Amino acid sequence: MYDLDKIRADFPILSREVNGKPLTYLDNGASAQKPQVVIDAITKAYAEEYSNVHRGLHFLSNLATEKYEAVRGIIARFLNAGDENTIVLNSGTTEGINLVAYGWAMPRFEAGDEIVLSVMEHHANIVPWHFLRERQGVVLKWVDTEADGSLDPQKVIDAIGPKTKLVAVTQCSNVLGTVVDVKAITQGAHAKGVPVLVDGSQGAVHMPVNVQDIGCDFYAITGHKLYGPSGSGAIYIKPERMAEMRPFIGGGDMIKEVSKEGIIYNDPPMKFEAGTPGIVQTIGLGVALEYMMALGMDNIAKHEGCLRDYAMQRLTGLNWINVQGQAPGKAAIFSFTMEGAAHAHDISTILDKKGVAVRAGHHCAGPLMDHLGVSATCRASFGLYNTKEEVDTLVDALELAHELFA
Ligand SMILES: Cc1ncc(COP(=O)(O)O)c(C=O)c1O
Repeated sequence: MYDLDKIRADFPILSREVNGKPLTYLDNGASAQKPQVVIDAITKAYAEEYSNVHRGLHFLSNLATEKYEAVRGIIARFLNAGDENTIVLNSGTTEGINLVAYGWAMPRFEAGDEIVLSVMEHHANIVPWHFLRERQGVVLKWVDTEADGSLDPQKVIDAIGPKTKLVAVTQCSNVLGTVVDVKAITQGAHAKGVPVLVDGSQGAVHMPVNVQDIGCDFYAITGHKLYGPSGSGAIYIKPERMAEMRPFIGGGDMIKEVSKEGIIYNDPPMKFEAGTPGIVQTIGLGVALEYMMALGMDNIAKHEGCLRDYAMQRLTGLNWINVQGQAPGKAAIFSFTMEGAAHAHDISTILDKKGVAVRAGHHCAGPLMDHLGVSATCRASFGLYNTKEEVDTLVDALELAHELFA
């Protein structure tokens, strides 16, 4: 049973007011709020269990190392990765994808080699590939979304040619909410001998993930969207790909020995984790993932599916709102524009006066904005604690904005 009142009570910030109104937090796509168990774990880690990890032989260092390293196993369980050594801990998806770009792709790709991307990728899954285009002459091949915002897996597979070296695709669009059949894409790409990177920043938040079933080579997550601390995250890397990778950032922890003559690297995955990591952030992420798994990812998906259906019905009922992206089975993420030329920033400012937090702008998805022919949208993105009443509050606030701008 999904006890929404109890779940909401777990998140202290949800009971605060904003501009004299109860907070309606619909900016989960940007970053999610944190349950008390995560806040407590962070406090405890600093107050009672803090030291640097992997280095000392003293009690606190061992304790912190134990807590930190346990998170690798939690993430492996959360992603159904099987072996926890497939998990590289980091600060989030941006770092994870850059590791793949610098550590795996850069030494292997040559001028004329291609990377296939969907047009709805987040900049974190675009800019590192543009670096390869600028520096090495790699070619980016873009696959458009359909009119309803869906991505046809076959079109992605068809875009793979003899020069394609990687497919990099999101599992869930942070703008349209479109859920992508990354398993079908992976099967098609692998049949052509091409590895697949999945950006799981949004996907892992909204649905159960099984990276072994998807079969992808890389799967990146970011902790702050998963109800955990910012500055935490991980990337799953298939052992075959990890064996091909060279380290990206050099420093302490990723080595076994350093001498004037050379270095001996640490074993993977630590070979790819240089310097003092986000110790407490990672510990907090572990607690957040345990929290989500205790609620049940299927239950979260089911609850958010009800919110999606209700929000879709209410928003499409407003004939002056244009909802971008209506793909079947999408996540509860709604980007929209308003007729009457009100800018997304103006709409979000009015909503804020009513305590409703949404995001306005390009959502770090420039190519998608170009494809849609808009410069900005408002985005309401729902999370595991949101309610149908909050959908109503959003619609009431939009009606007010429409009255003001119409
Ligand atoms: C789909 C997607 N990919 C990547 C990112 C980047 O995540 P981070 O900034 O946490 O590295 C985001 C964050 O908005 C996202 O929504």
